[in-house]
Amino acid sequence: TEEFHKEPKPLSLASDGPFGKYDNQQLQRGFQVYKEVCAACHSIDLVHFRDLEGIGYNKAEVKAIADQWVIEQPTINPDTGEASTRKNLPSDPFPRPFANDVAARAANNNALPPDLSLIVKAREGGAAYIHSILTGYEKPDPEIAKKYPDFEVLEGLHYNPYFPSLAIAMAQQINSDGQVQYVDGTKPTIDQMSTDVTAFLVWTAEPKLEARHAAGMAAVIFLLIFCFLTWGAYKNVWRNVE
Ligand code: HEM
Repeated sequence: TEEFHKEPKPLSLASDGPFGKYDNQQLQRGFQVYKEVCAACHSIDLVHFRDLEGIGYNKAEVKAIADQWVIEQPTINPDTGEASTRKNLPSDPFPRPFANDVAARAANNNALPPDLSLIVKAREGGAAYIHSILTGYEKPDPEIAKKYPDFEVLEGLHYNPYFPSLAIAMAQQINSDGQVQYVDGTKPTIDQMSTDVTAFLVWTAEPKLEARHAAGMAAVIFLLIFCFLTWGAYKNVWRNVE
């Protein structure tokens, strides 16, 4: 498969580079895509509803999002001791779409949709890889069949040259323009929705990225000032010698 595997397409996001900052509008659009498309199969169980304040929602909005989340929070009925569910609270983690991995596989042709909280960090290629997976479904390269007559994309798998094995168990999920209705006027093309949800997953994996960038800059500025101080001290100490 190596020779037909493709490197991720380049992707640029506002959060890239040492000066990178998140674009909250984009993260909110990406959250909407996650909610309306991905959340049916993928959890983000390291993220709590109240973390959404970090992408610009206020407390009331977070409360409403949690309250209206379709999948409820697993709990135990205190009166009967039986497993039950209740509405989500801002302090809850995002609930998983399936009760357990067996149920998740049963609904997905025996494949397991991974938790997406840290997927950007877990996969080589990071954000660009995720974006390429989402937008990279195509017809199998005819060269493959020429070279390897036995090649076939097995039932339940989908050809995607960005996936290491070239055949992924997830069908193309973002598959038509306008699949999600954006409220900020951005045109929801397949590529835009895929980029937005990828940006959102960059944020879930590193919500404190901006603080890290700021601390890094402060450290570099400190070291620069320190350089001038030591140079000045050196000049001062050796001023009468030569
Ligand atoms: C795998 C993202 C929607 C089912 C994956 C992977 C990512 C991903 C990044 C991992 C690929 C890898 O292992 O390198 C997303 C996003 C979605 C979405 C961003 C929403 C836009 C869905 C939906 C379903 C689904 C709705 C179920 C109908 C799966 C399955 C796998 C998977 C079964 C495992 C594939 C395999 O290991 O072959 N998805 N997904 N995904 N996804 Fe999704």
